[in-house]
Formats: sequence, structure tokens, C-alpha cells
Amino acid sequence: MKILNIYHSTTGNTEKVANVINTTVKEEGHEIVSVKAKKELEIDLLQYDLIFAGSGVYQWLPGKPMIDFITRIRRDYVEKGEIIPCSPRRPGKKAVIYCTYGGVHTGINEAIPAVKFMGQLFDHLGIEVIDEWYFVGEYHPDKYKSFSKGGRLGDITGRPDERDLKEVAERVRGILKV
Ligand SMILES: Cc1cc2nc3c(=O)[nH]c(=O)nc-3n(C[C@H](O)[C@H](O)[C@H](O)COP(=O)(O)O)c2cc1C
Repeated sequence: MKILNIYHSTTGNTEKVANVINTTVKEEGHEIVSVKAKKELEIDLLQYDLIFAGSGVYQWLPGKPMIDFITRIRRDYVEKGEIIPCSPRRPGKKAVIYCTYGGVHTGINEAIPAVKFMGQLFDHLGIEVIDEWYFVGEYHPDKYKSFSKGGRLGDITGRPDERDLKEVAERVRGILKV
């Protein structure tokens, strides 16, 4: 099984999750290619059987490098005739979309658009999105630090913490059995 992990992390939270995905996949005896999303990234998503795609959430959407990558690669696949009306399924191809988010204003609702946005690339390609993972991630920049204590999710200082990352590993083990 060919496995890819493509992610963007501005302040390091999603990278912690991505690293646990990578190590857990390897512990389970598989190889994994791990890459950071950026506009110019040349990669053929259709070569992979299982793709993890993740980002921190910024203004309800993934970070800009992930948006730029998705925008560009979507266009490329349209031009190559790989994205066509009705998005026929590609049997055996699966994706898991994940994010880390702070949810200070409206909780998980402000992270859902980011995950749905990323997921649509795979859905358009006929790759089944088999799961969506939302992990809490504290606000790091000084300007936003107070958001880690007084938002909809309460005190999220230090998240994703050890317990969150253990959950990541458990979920990866589960997905590998699907
Ligand atoms: C400028 C800024 C904007 C953010 N916007 C949102 C947002 O709209 N919704 C949300 O749930 N979290 C938001 N967050 C919180 C981040 O999504 C969260 O800290 C995430 O874990 C960051 O991931 P990263 O370190 O991998 O980039 C924002 C954080 C910053 C610094």
C-alpha cells in the first residue's frame, strides 16, 4: 500500500500530528511519503492508495500554502482529464483529512470549512474521504495567545498534548485496518 501524508503547519501544531501519523504508519510496517504542501509541489496524488492531508485552520480555511497547492493541482488534474463530471470513484483509493484548530469563536464550526475544502480535492478526484479528524491546537502568536484560554473550547493551552497525540496514533492504527 502506497501512503502519502501531505500537510501544512504554520505554528507547528499540525506538524506534531503529522509526525505521529508518520511514525505510527512506520511502526505498523508501512512506508509513508511525507511532504509539506506548497503551490509548486509536484506530486501525483493518484499514485497513492491512502492519503493523509492536513492543515492548521486560518480564517476557517487551511493555511495559504495548502490552499495554493490545492488550487494549482486541481487545475492540473482538470487539464489532464482526471477530474471529470460526476467524479467517478477510483476503487481502493482513500483519503483521511485532518486539521488542528483553535475554535475560539464558534468552536468546531470554524474548522469544518477547512476540512471540507481540503476533502473536496480528493472527492473531485474520485478518492473516497473515509474520515475527517479535528484536533485542538493552541494559538501560538503573542497577539492571539489569550484566545487559548477564553474561547468556546475553554483552556486549550498546550494542545495538541500527549493525550491528543495518543489519539492520533490510535486513529491511524484503526484507519490502516480499513
Ligand atoms: C492568525 C490565526 C488565525 C486563526 N484562525 C482560526 C480559525 O479561523 N478557526 C480556528 O478554529 N482556529 C484558528 N486559528 C487557530 C489555529 O488553527 C490553531 O492554532 C492550529 O492548531 C494552528 O495549526 P498550525 O500550527 O499547524 O499552523 C487561528 C490561528 C491564528 C494564529
